[in-house]
Amino acid sequence: ADGAARFLPAARDLDALREAAAGCRGCELHRDATQTVFGAGPGNARLLIVGEQPGDSEDKRGRPFVGPAGGLLDRALLAAGIDRDDVWLTNAVKHFKFKVAADSRRRLHDKPDRSEVAACKPWLLAEIAAVEPELVVCLGATAAQDLLGGDFRVTKRRGEILTMEKPKGLRVMATVHPSAVLRTPGDRREEAFDALVADLSIAARELS
Ligand code: URA
Ligand code: SF4
Repeated sequence: ADGAARFLPAARDLDALREAAAGCRGCELHRDATQTVFGAGPGNARLLIVGEQPGDSEDKRGRPFVGPAGGLLDRALLAAGIDRDDVWLTNAVKHFKFKVAADSRRRLHDKPDRSEVAACKPWLLAEIAAVEPELVVCLGATAAQDLLGGDFRVTKRRGEILTMEKPKGLRVMATVHPSAVLRTPGDRREEAFDALVADLSIAARELS
């Protein structure tokens, strides 16, 4: 497979993109996943948020951020004064990558590798071009490095509003992934949540 580019439709509106993405075979991940999880939200959203890849719930339901990480994201957005319904939510990779635990049938998240993220990038760029958001927020290193380059370090540069060369003039901010907050040990989780809210509040101010 050589990436999603050859699956992109001539028409670049969101409905055409969603329909074409459903049949993407740009990398191997389509084989074991249930379905393509394309982005969702209002087509004129001012804010576009990029996660890593669908999780187990998203894979089954076909919508982004409807599982535990999505629940935490919703609460963080609300605390930052952002309504989830105003946001275009999507992922760097559109199919769920997982491994099955030897002793169970549970499907465990498996981090997409660079080649899979690169293969899927045409869909993300097409979504950004169609939605034309004022700001893109990357959740976690996978999304951040996809758009900002492999050397980008979220821990060092979270919360900074950056202006990209390509796509020219696009404003991007990176922060941590909500799953990282969920994985933070109990005594430090609230602090990690508050730091995510603080970054999302920077994004909210940028839009107001
Ligand atoms: N994590 C993500 O990065 N994206 C989702 O859609 C769900 C969980
Ligand atoms: Fe296509 Fe992306 Fe799915 Fe790979 S992960 S098959 S590139 S939609």
